[in-house]
Amino acid sequence: MPELAFSVVGIVGAGTMGVGIAQVALEAGHEVVLHDVDDVAVERGRERIREGLAKRGAKLELDADSIDESVDGRLAGLRTALTLDAVASGADIVIEAALEDLDLKQTIFAALDREAPPNAILASNTSALLVELIAAATTRHDRVLGLHFFNPAPLMPLVEVVRAPATSQAVVDRAVALMERWGKTPVVCADAPGFIVNRINRPFTLEALAMLEAGVAGIASIDRAVRDAGYPMGPFELMDLTGVDITLATTRGIHVGFVARGDPLASRFEPSVIQERLVDAGRLGRKAGAGFYAYDAGGSGLPPVPGTSDLDPVATAAASEPPDDPTRALIVERIELAIVNEAYRARDEGVAEADDIDRALRLGARHPAGPFETWAARGGAATIRARLADLAGLGPRFVPADGLADEG
Ligand SMILES: NC(=O)c1ccc[n+]([C@@H]2O[C@H](COP(=O)([O-])OP(=O)(O)OC[C@H]3O[C@@H](n4cnc5c(N)ncnc54)[C@H](O)[C@@H]3O)[C@@H](O)[C@H]2O)c1
Repeated sequence: MPELAFSVVGIVGAGTMGVGIAQVALEAGHEVVLHDVDDVAVERGRERIREGLAKRGAKLELDADSIDESVDGRLAGLRTALTLDAVASGADIVIEAALEDLDLKQTIFAALDREAPPNAILASNTSALLVELIAAATTRHDRVLGLHFFNPAPLMPLVEVVRAPATSQAVVDRAVALMERWGKTPVVCADAPGFIVNRINRPFTLEALAMLEAGVAGIASIDRAVRDAGYPMGPFELMDLTGVDITLATTRGIHVGFVARGDPLASRFEPSVIQERLVDAGRLGRKAGAGFYAYDAGGSGLPPVPGTSDLDPVATAAASEPPDDPTRALIVERIELAIVNEAYRARDEGVAEADDIDRALRLGARHPAGPFETWAARGGAATIRARLADLAGLGPRFVPADGLADEG
């Protein structure tokens, strides 16, 4: 029997991501049912969706009356639900964006599975949990998948469509078609820790932290070198924006995932002690007024704050700027080498094709070019092997991926 088109979209969780995804679905003309355990979050969510829709209208240069009309029209499609049952019954697809906690997600999926129509698709926006484990709480393993949006969901084009081992091809195809209809760029990937972007881009921050720890260069120098190489933000600026705590939690989740798989090189994902100290000290980034940098009331960046004695590694390394040109080149090369090495590993494990990995890093992490593209222009696998050999003593992130040996 042919599958019906999606009409009603259920969203569980009215936080940053749930609200953004709800806005995207409303813009695509769906009826959206939004649920959160916190009633205040739902009401705040409705207001944020209204603001988001109005901003989009303003970008399209609509006049004030047309904006109001279009916002009201879209918002008319938004319903709120007090219970999970109410969000599930009648939905063609439910996208869960509650907290990143496996037990919680399993409880939610078990409830959705009981109430949702038998052919409804259940999706999770998890950042790093295995979709297979979430699907295990349901009786419809073939109809559960990951739809990993990036923040802010209305603006970021990439969606990783995560195929768990039991997800059916038809369900993946339908999800891909839906994301395309929503104006997104879906990239299909396997259900492995960190999927594509969170895994392959992990060295963007971890390698920067390793260099800071080793005193290679300071915070502002590393950020400047990376920005000068065409990245929109340096690693420390990015962690301050994302939240040092959030970055640490994602890193921990990926590390735990690789340890659980018995990966002998899992320690390449170990969080840095500097991240842990900053989080312990409450320096969580922009949202806390201080992270790697301090922020004034307006939120603009100030120079690195000298650390307390607890934060000595930050203070010491921050004092060692500015680096000379060879150091600047080395900073960028270390980050890009660790990333391309991880890209080869992920490709070899079947996480995604090289082209999709490049596309995902460009669209999801805003890299100027994908890792395979970047290094193809520099001589490809032979250059990567030679450069990795120079850094071999620095740790498992520079142990060449198996697939590098097979390429010319
Ligand atoms: N923030 C990001 O950059 C980002 C990006 C991609 C994916 N994610 C993932 O998306 C999910 C949501 O992240 P977020 O940043 O929107 O979090 P958030 O903290 O902003 O929002 C989570 C919401 O879930 C609600 N919630 C908690 N328990 C619930 C339950 N049992 N039923 C319904 N709602 C419940 C909370 O009240 C809160 O409003 C997480 O899995 C996260 O890893 C986040």
